[in-house]
Amino acid sequence: MIIYVSIHHGNTEKIAKAISSILGARLVKPWEIQPDEVVEYKLAGFGSGIYYWRHHTALIRLAEKLPPAPGKMAFIFSTAGIPLKMINHRALKKILVGKRYRLIGEFTCRGWDTNGVLARIGGLNKGHPNEKDLEKAVKFALRLKRILEEKNN
Ligand SMILES: Cc1cc2nc3c(=O)[nH]c(=O)nc-3n(C[C@H](O)[C@H](O)[C@H](O)COP(=O)(O)O)c2cc1C
Repeated sequence: MIIYVSIHHGNTEKIAKAISSILGARLVKPWEIQPDEVVEYKLAGFGSGIYYWRHHTALIRLAEKLPPAPGKMAFIFSTAGIPLKMINHRALKKILVGKRYRLIGEFTCRGWDTNGVLARIGGLNKGHPNEKDLEKAVKFALRLKRILEEKNN
């Protein structure tokens, strides 16, 4: 299952769909699902645009409400004006690790950003995620799939 928020330009939704096409994952928004339901899935993906250096509040709030998930796997993804995994994923990562999820991958790429004054110059990263970004997301999903398959054998 993939839980995502994509409110600015639908940038993260493109990535979520690319990943789900490989994994055959159910796509949901944080407000469409109960915390108890999330931990029933063997693998859960959590992603959104980055808004002020962290994932969307609705996603963070859902993660905070999750019951402990030992033995379950998770991955984190995002799109951002400045895609810095180390900084942008930190808050969500800390929560998921605290819930005892095993983090098996992280993905980020550039996303079209017209926040604030950026709009006046046509925004940052126009056209992103582009074909190349989507290809990278597919490769990332294939790696996740391999890990899932190894775990099943
Ligand atoms: C209110 C707001 C705040 C943002 N803050 C950041 C930020 O702190 N760091 C960053 O790299 N990008 C930031 N961005 C850019 C978005 O992360 C980027 O455009 C992302 O691709 C949006 O994804 P979405 O279209 O899926 O919502 C911000 C955008 C908005 C609208």
